[in-house]
Amino acid sequence: MIIAIDGPEASGKGTIAKLIAQKYGLRHLDSGLLYRLTGVALIDQDFADDAAFKQAAIASAQQITATDLDNPPAQARTMAGGVMASKVAVIPQVRDILTSIQQNIAKQKPGAVIDGRDIGTIVFPNAEFKFWVTASLKTRASRRLAEYTAKGKSDTLADVTAAIEERDHRDSSRAAAPMKKATDAHLIDTSKLSIDGVVEAMSAYIDAKLA
Ligand code: DC
Repeated sequence: MIIAIDGPEASGKGTIAKLIAQKYGLRHLDSGLLYRLTGVALIDQDFADDAAFKQAAIASAQQITATDLDNPPAQARTMAGGVMASKVAVIPQVRDILTSIQQNIAKQKPGAVIDGRDIGTIVFPNAEFKFWVTASLKTRASRRLAEYTAKGKSDTLADVTAAIEERDHRDSSRAAAPMKKATDAHLIDTSKLSIDGVVEAMSAYIDAKLA
């Protein structure tokens, strides 16, 4: 069984995907982490031009294996890690490599809940369940700001909002597998829902379809 959960940054999809995987006894696959792992190797490096960056990104993606997901470096989860992930994600060859890894992992029994940007459209277009999880920009920025503040960072709401808008734009405007709702995905707006509320809404949809 494959449950695809797509949506933009800070929509809550990762947290929800983990909980839904636990509930249904499936593996949770965070596809964004594959892009982050690919990108992290390139942070703090200088590249002569776009071609050199592209080549390094493809080489980095080629090094990634499924086991890397178990012990990601802390930098992969930072804001810089997210930005670099979004930059390598525009490269079609990188996407092809990481898409194969995702398909191989999720094919294993008993199946997986995968969260990302292109799971319901490209990686698993025939997934049994597809969700598009989103929230207003204001809600998403407030969530991110709370996370950063808890970590002792001093970003402002304006900084975080601008960074989210920039990443949304890059992810949705790229030519290769842009972030978008699959036409047959079930939309869940998490702006006014608690995490439990989202899990309940999603489970109700899944259970009704399984019945
Ligand atoms: O979900 P995340 O914030 O960890 O994702 C980081 C970046 O990786 C995201 O901005 C775009 C890219 N990504 C992607 O292009 N396709 C996916 N399926 C998952 C992530």
